[in-house]
Amino acid sequence: MTQVTEYAQRREQVMAKIGKGTAIFRSAPTAVMHNDVEYNFRQDSDFFYLTGFNEAEAVAVLAPHHEEHRFILFVQPKDLERETWSGYRVGVEAAKSQYGADEVYPIAELDEKLPQYLEKADRIYYRLGRDTAFNNKVLRHWQKQMATYAKTGYAPMALADPAPVLYPLRQIKSAAELALMRQAVKIAVDAHNHAREYARPGLYEYQVQAEIEHIFRQRGALGPAYPSIVASGANACVLHYTENTRQMQDGDLLLIDAGCAYEYYNSDITRSFPISGHFTPEQKAIYEIVLEAQLQSIAQVQPGNPYKQTHDTAVRVIVEGLMDLGLLQGDIEEIIKEEKYKPFYMHRTGHWLGLDVHDVGVYQHGETPHNLEPGQVLTIEPGIYISPYIKPAEGQPEVDPKWHGIGIRIEDDVLVTASGCEVLSAGVPKSIAELEN
Ligand code: GLY
Ligand code: MN
Ligand code: MN
Repeated sequence: MTQVTEYAQRREQVMAKIGKGTAIFRSAPTAVMHNDVEYNFRQDSDFFYLTGFNEAEAVAVLAPHHEEHRFILFVQPKDLERETWSGYRVGVEAAKSQYGADEVYPIAELDEKLPQYLEKADRIYYRLGRDTAFNNKVLRHWQKQMATYAKTGYAPMALADPAPVLYPLRQIKSAAELALMRQAVKIAVDAHNHAREYARPGLYEYQVQAEIEHIFRQRGALGPAYPSIVASGANACVLHYTENTRQMQDGDLLLIDAGCAYEYYNSDITRSFPISGHFTPEQKAIYEIVLEAQLQSIAQVQPGNPYKQTHDTAVRVIVEGLMDLGLLQGDIEEIIKEEKYKPFYMHRTGHWLGLDVHDVGVYQHGETPHNLEPGQVLTIEPGIYISPYIKPAEGQPEVDPKWHGIGIRIEDDVLVTASGCEVLSAGVPKSIAELEN
């Protein structure tokens, strides 16, 4: 559990940066599954990071320049009849004491109460979201403020995205966040290890999925961090295969990409292994390349190293390996520069991980690299996918059908430390010796 004081510290860090600006953050909307049935509520990550408040229909305002109220919450008021249907609300009174707000209003008063926090602001920080009606509401408030400019000589002159202020903070995980991430990873590690023991020819992919997700819930995770991918045989060549309906066959590789959300923090782990305990020579040859690419890429995860180096390293190992197998041919530099490896490896080598599975934060600043820093968590997940429908790049050889249907990805969650990195998900085996029996 993250302490109330930590949320307050985060707000202070944001407020120190926005100075005379006012920042508006909105809770996630409720999402419809079908007709009048809703998905479980999942708070907006920015909103949660700054407040810890876990209800819909809420708005948080940071106004560091305001004389009385610097942190203002708008929330749904108590309403016992509604709460009987959809769950208890914190309400206006308790939100003040429990969440450290200087002032709390019912959400219905947003239009009336918001202007006082915008009046003296030099800009409004707001990230345009999917809800265009709410975007328009913010724009109208801005417009109203601008209408007074001629008379007063001041008004918020710009609408700014809070990303450059907030996301560098979200990118560096605190001790409390890391504890939650370690728990999310641990649960997923155990689920992967169980799934590998459990998988065998004749079972359906969804049965493996069920075992994994059973462990997620049993262990207190909210559930999968993203739709679990349990892809046997050629299904592994579809990057986001989630049907999980195929009956697994002797000789299959099984690619499992599954992670869980624990108190909103996510894990994201992939392993590919032979369900019958033995790689075919072709499967083994491809696996060795992917594993080497992953290990070399992980070795690049060190503070001060450009983020980009993790991908560049994986690409080079994959290209070299595919060239050794005759699956790519020509000049290695040209293959890399012209991305002729892309029919085999079409995605990036990883992403930031945190409150979002594909977490926020930049990877590159134009031509300037983004360097890794302690406290960042990223995935390293190279793969090779040889779809039965693969179309080699121009000038490259046709693929011998003996390679068709092999899809392999290996994905770990890696923390940048002061001296290098820690592979948080190291508890799931990935060496060939450990996967064969
Ligand atoms: N499972 C989503 C990803 O690996 O990025
Ligand atoms: Mn991933
Ligand atoms: Mn994944």
